[in-house]
Formats: sequence, structure tokens, C-alpha cells
Amino acid sequence: MKKLFKIVLVSIIPLVVFSCYYDEFPEEIVQDDVVIDPDIVVSFADDIAPIFVNYNCTQCHDASGQAPDLSPGNAYASLLAGYVNPGNSGSSTLYIQLNDLGHQNVDPDAIALIKKWIDDGAENN
Ligand code: HEC
Repeated sequence: MKKLFKIVLVSIIPLVVFSCYYDEFPEEIVQDDVVIDPDIVVSFADDIAPIFVNYNCTQCHDASGQAPDLSPGNAYASLLAGYVNPGNSGSSTLYIQLNDLGHQNVDPDAIALIKKWIDDGAENN
């Protein structure tokens, strides 16, 4: 009986000790972790518009498709017509759609640029 108890104890201890071994998952990088130098001026033409091209947003968002029209030349006017609230990314559909709703899996660096551009006033620069 004593032996059986020992065997049970010896098999239970590792179970308890190692049971949480795989609890740590690699940390996901989220937009909040991306730090952009506050002095950097984000340009719509050089930084933001290319994101729409790189991610093929215009495949669905063009003049005849889903609003907003993100095709080159139309994207700025289209976004400012209700999808971007200058100075306030948190209430901007563009930011909410990409960051909070994970639309099209846009990477955190690109989302951080969009956030800064909106918070800095969403200029056509
Ligand atoms: C495969 C097609 C497709 C692609 C590619 C796509 N979208 Fe969309 N998008 C949609 C559809 C459909 C909706 C409306 C339904 C929804 O909210 O998901 C939408 C909604 C949106 C909205 C909100 C519109 C509203 O009226 O509230 C924004 C902003 C947006 N997309 C931006 C983007 C950006 C930026 C990209 C590229 C990074 C992109 N989309 C790529 C199909 C697409």
C-alpha cells in the first residue's frame, strides 16, 4: 500500500508541476506597441496612400465598388467625406475598421502610421 502511494505521488507531482508549461504563448505585436517618433510628419502621399496600394484595397474599394474609394487620386477626398475625423483616430471609421475590427490584417506599423496621420490632423500633405 505504501508503495502504491509512492507511485501515485511520483506520477502526480510532475503533472502538477509541469501542467502549466505551455501557458506562455509568443506575444503578439499590436499597434499599441509600435512607437512612432512624435516629431515625424506622416505624409498622406508618401506614407498613407501607398498602404492602400500595397494591400490591394482598391480591389474592392474603387469608384464603382465598396466605399470609401481608395484609388490613387480619389482616396483623400473619399476618406475625408466621413471615414476620417481629423485629429481623432478613435472616432475615425478607417482606423476602427483596420485596428479594432482587423479588416484585411493590416500590419501594426501601417496602422500606427494611419493613426498618427489622423491624430495630426489628416492633412493632404
Ligand atoms: C476583398 C474586398 C476588400 C478589400 C481588399 C478591402 N476591403 Fe474594406 N471593406 C470591404 C467590404 C465588403 C466592406 C463593408 C463591410 C465591412 O465593414 O466589412 C469594407 C469596409 C471598409 C471600411 C468601412 C466602410 C464603412 O462604410 O464603414 C473601410 C474604411 C475599409 N473597408 C477600408 C479598407 C482598407 C484601408 C483596405 C486595404 C487595407 C480595405 N478596406 C480592403 C471589402 C474590402
